[in-house]
Amino acid sequence: MSARVAVVGSSNLDLVVSAPQLPRPGETVLGENFRTVPGGKGANQAVAAARAGATCDFVGAVGEDDFGTQLRASLVDAGVDVRGLRTVAGPSGVALIAVDRDAENFIVVAAGANGTVTELNADDRATIAGADVLLLQLEVPLSAVVQAAGWARAAGTTVVLNAAPAAALPAELIALVDVLVVNEHEAAVVAGVVSDDPPVLLDALLELVPRVVLTLGARGAAYADRSGLRITVPAPRIDAVDTTASGDAFTGALAVSWAERGGATTEDSVTASLRWACAAGAACAQRPGASTALPERAAIDALYDATYRGTP
Ligand code: RIB
Repeated sequence: MSARVAVVGSSNLDLVVSAPQLPRPGETVLGENFRTVPGGKGANQAVAAARAGATCDFVGAVGEDDFGTQLRASLVDAGVDVRGLRTVAGPSGVALIAVDRDAENFIVVAAGANGTVTELNADDRATIAGADVLLLQLEVPLSAVVQAAGWARAAGTTVVLNAAPAAALPAELIALVDVLVVNEHEAAVVAGVVSDDPPVLLDALLELVPRVVLTLGARGAAYADRSGLRITVPAPRIDAVDTTASGDAFTGALAVSWAERGGATTEDSVTASLRWACAAGAACAQRPGASTALPERAAIDALYDATYRGTP
């Protein structure tokens, strides 16, 4: 049976401009082209999980505008169950994104309809209870994130929190997280430490949550848990064109692999899950855009095999 993943989170229409370099504060740069792409960390992670092979439900909100219609259609096209996606008065979420020639980006999000996701309902609770893994991010109001995590904990559903965009977390949420997924910047903010040293960040985060996955971009990913297990895996070597949503591809694939392994707690299973997630993130970075770049399972498997086959 396929893994069941539930996502409570955001959906944004991404307004994307490519440019030779990213502007500094107060600077205008001439871009090269403009496109709109369905995105949002929640929707991206739902699409990532579905393409990676999970049965996936998405709980969130879009506005009564054309963007909302596009965002809903994009999730449906990916095979995500959208019975928990509300359409509300007002605009959908949007993200302004600039991407430079080194594949780096900056992103500014206007929450729009995502801001209305303050409280969940009984149907959402049943969805969460029926999932193996609940995936959460920080682009919808914290009240819904905490409520979803609490219901997941009560039902025995594993809570994976991707603490993005970076924010200090309230104690009531920290207490409900099974696996925290963060990049180095997010790790420092969540832990409240000034460091870019992965072992220091992992130690600090283990004071808060039982398992931490630290994404390291082109360097791969690191894992630590309270049993003392520490694992670092390298990322596939690729030519990145756009790193937008690579973290979402990573997190979605990690959730699927974690669920398929019934909770990845041994060294071998955690290593395999981290590698598979790194392959998903790298495959995403090889293509432009957010949801448009999220890889199918076959593409993840191919990059995984090409990178790690024969590696103990
Ligand atoms: O993680 C990438 C996503 O962040 C984009 O799709 C954008 O919508 C923002 O939510």
